[in-house]
Amino acid sequence: MSYKVQLSEQDINFDVSENETLLEAALRQSHSLPYGCRNGLCGSCKAKIVSGKIIYPDGSPDGLTAADKKQGYALLCQAKAASDLVIKARTIESAVDIKLRQFPCRVTKFEKLNDDVIRLILELPKSESLQFLAGQYIDILMKDGKRRSFSLANPPDQDQRLELHIRYYGGGLFSEYAFKDLTEKTLLRIEGPLGQFTLHESDRPMIMIAGGTGFAPVKSLIEYTLKNNHKRSIQFYWGARTSDDLYLDELPKQWSKDHKHIQYKPVLSEADKLNGWKGRTGFVHEAVLKDHADLSGYDIYACGPPPMIKAVLDSFPANGLNMEQIFSDSFEFAAD
Ligand code: FES
Repeated sequence: MSYKVQLSEQDINFDVSENETLLEAALRQSHSLPYGCRNGLCGSCKAKIVSGKIIYPDGSPDGLTAADKKQGYALLCQAKAASDLVIKARTIESAVDIKLRQFPCRVTKFEKLNDDVIRLILELPKSESLQFLAGQYIDILMKDGKRRSFSLANPPDQDQRLELHIRYYGGGLFSEYAFKDLTEKTLLRIEGPLGQFTLHESDRPMIMIAGGTGFAPVKSLIEYTLKNNHKRSIQFYWGARTSDDLYLDELPKQWSKDHKHIQYKPVLSEADKLNGWKGRTGFVHEAVLKDHADLSGYDIYACGPPPMIKAVLDSFPANGLNMEQIFSDSFEFAAD
């Protein structure tokens, strides 16, 4: 059995089955409503039931006061529909609508992807989840008060298991620690979500450009679009020095094999003769310029080291790109 839910004052409707909460149904259908713990405790998902009937199969949640109930408020992470509903809820329009929070987390997986990139999986406590938009990042809070920023590589529906790609930089405070001392089970403290490098609505095809571990937020963005069945064309250029630096090369190859609207174009700046590289060579931004004499019809998403981002920002307008159609995240490196 399923019911219809309408957000009052907004042109948003979605279906909800009797087995899922109102929040689960909204997120499943790509409607971003605010949430925090997903356990009925924090109150972040509070919304007003304008008409219709809801039930709480596990009992009234602790995060809902008697006064809230009297005024017709419900916690969408716990409430299930018992009829068609009209609800009044805030929606997440952009990154600034999500509350910044701190969490403890545990490293549950430590995986070397090549000689100088590791993948960490961080798990939040069971009662917590991190709401974020694809493309955003978190800060790792160090014991001495310093912090280091890393993009989330997983799509937002995986909000308890966070994936980071960490590149080794000699002298980098966190990367030295991560490569030498960090193990599975290490406890960390994080803050997030942060950043504005998120998907912007438009009908234009997208060109996504990553340099090195700039692949992490691009992975989050592309996996988000795939999960939500978006069909906007994506040309993904991944720039690296050598083929070893394309540390998860099989993944974008698979995307382009499985999905007609995704193309993958790796570009190496140091020709990889030893490995018999036969693909594109040179700087990744030059490859994009060469392929697209007219960029005016595209949205550009670029993420990676500052020189790559600068080259994109400096050179793409000459090929007709309007600066409003470019979204970028520059990975500034902070040595200790
Ligand atoms: S009460 Fe925390 S997300 Fe619902």
